[in-house]
Amino acid sequence: MMNSNNSKQIVLTGDRPTGHLHLGHYVGSLKNRVELQEEYPCLIMIADTQALSDHFDNPRKITDSIGEVCRDYLAVGIDPSKSTVFIQSMIPELFELTSYYMNLISVARLERNPTVKTELQQKSFADAITAGFLCYPVSQAADITAFKASLVPVGEDQLPLIEISNEIVRRFNRVYNTEVLVESKAILSGKCNRLVGIDGKAKACKSLGNAIFLSDSSEVIKQKINDMYTDPTHLKVSDPGNVEGNVVFAYLDAFFEDKDELEKLKTRYKKGGLGDSVVKSLLNDTLQALLTPIREKREAVTKEEVGDMLSDGCKKAGGIAKQTLIEVRDSIGLRYN
Ligand code: TRP
Repeated sequence: MMNSNNSKQIVLTGDRPTGHLHLGHYVGSLKNRVELQEEYPCLIMIADTQALSDHFDNPRKITDSIGEVCRDYLAVGIDPSKSTVFIQSMIPELFELTSYYMNLISVARLERNPTVKTELQQKSFADAITAGFLCYPVSQAADITAFKASLVPVGEDQLPLIEISNEIVRRFNRVYNTEVLVESKAILSGKCNRLVGIDGKAKACKSLGNAIFLSDSSEVIKQKINDMYTDPTHLKVSDPGNVEGNVVFAYLDAFFEDKDELEKLKTRYKKGGLGDSVVKSLLNDTLQALLTPIREKREAVTKEEVGDMLSDGCKKAGGIAKQTLIEVRDSIGLRYN
């Protein structure tokens, strides 16, 4: 697919467990992972430690979310026999790697990271940024490199983090004169990496409360679609409407398969004569058709399935990380036994 030498490629990605997963995760990454697991060894990390970097005072939110995220995974078709699903904090090797990597990047470089800058604007610690938060990209470099992942399916907002990870890899290999660490490449899922929130502001995000969750009931989905921001100047059906910046069309772009039909609808909407209620109803049919089977599958997932997936996954991931850490320590020259 991306490289003729598939046998050497390893895929790793992760999610912060701070609530249920939503449609932004689905189009930005989950859908991609379900396809990738057919072709590559895949690791999926539940990034509880990273989530603590901005929720350190509310750990229950994170621990309570882990089971929910696992159910979302299983519901969309992540298959534990193909994908290794594990919890970040269960792999202590990641913390040791993070310590070594901290020396290989400057504070100024971390402060320049646009993803962190945007997150800081959205979060409360404005002028009291913690060392943990500033450094989470270093720990993310450990996540990626511990498994020698070369492919990282993520949303567009994660690109600066992959760049930092690769800078650390190059520096490590240069400074310690080794080839132990592997650079990685982001895999973006097609045209829709950044699904807008239902309010039309920023991207869909659980902390902004503007997302449609994979676990939402059909009534809630309908309500959220009804509440979607459209075009405030499109007052009467006969008025010409704007498609740009119109959330309903952004979602149709992401989820409605018949692109020719969609183009026709856009033309009619722009000319005037197509009401918001008609396009909202089309979006509702589209999303209900996508999410009903996911929700039903989600409800059927048992505690045992989740438990087995995680314990097998943590064991397997731990084994791989341990091996990389041996090589990393050896490259630095930390040989004491
Ligand atoms: N930063 C990612 C997010 O916020 C989560 C994550 C943690 C991750 N470690 C990772 C993603 C390693 C890819 C690879 O969604």
